[in-house]
Amino acid sequence: MRLFATALLAGLCLIIGIYPLAYVLTDDRFGLLQSKPNAVVGSSWWRLGFHAHILSGGVALSVGWSQFVHGWRTRFPRVHRAVGRLYVVLVLVSGLAALSIAPYTSTGWVAALAFGILAVIWLTVTVLAWDSIRRRDVQRHKAFMVYSFSACCAAVTLRLWLPVLLLVLRLDFSVAYPIVAWLCWVPNLLVARLINSRTAAASR
Ligand code: HEM
Repeated sequence: MRLFATALLAGLCLIIGIYPLAYVLTDDRFGLLQSKPNAVVGSSWWRLGFHAHILSGGVALSVGWSQFVHGWRTRFPRVHRAVGRLYVVLVLVSGLAALSIAPYTSTGWVAALAFGILAVIWLTVTVLAWDSIRRRDVQRHKAFMVYSFSACCAAVTLRLWLPVLLLVLRLDFSVAYPIVAWLCWVPNLLVARLINSRTAAASR
């Protein structure tokens, strides 16, 4: 069961993590860019922020899940440390870039606020996780990394929830997008909280 859950998580993270490459490899108006005004898509600052966000976020998502595989962590501690440092740098780049593009989010301020808050949470818990391990507080490091990667997985859950809202509930994109901007991360953080409280209870 645990193996199946890990394989499913890894598969989803790798597929969604590779997806940003489509923006680099295809024409100028791929995906989300179709719904953006020319003034936004034409801005070199926005494009820089957008590409920095999606490419570093994609790599963070693709490598992050592997850090939770207990066997790999104990067998290859140096790899765990190197990948961990890389993950923190990628989150700093992707999270700060997300903050810079959040005000231009499609459909307006409700979605923009959701992504802005998510970016702040992602950056904060990741820095706290890094700070905890520098202080050799392994339990606190683990707990904050569970929060960090749950936030990172918003990229996955957004793309799972959106088809449900659009195709099953038949909501208009202008209604579905502000909803999914919250739905993609609030439940993730509640699950992270549950995982952390169970881990804390088991170690007592
Ligand atoms: C966890 C914190 C994250 C925040 C706060 C965030 C925020 C945002 C924002 C504000 C946008 C622009 C939306 C718009 O203009 O309508 C966006 C788009 C995008 N983000 Fe993120 N994001 C996060 C994580 C990630 C990760 C880990 C990936 C990795 C795959 C990712 C990939 C993308 C892609 C590909 C888009 C373009 C939209 C699409 O094609 O679906 N994001 N994100």
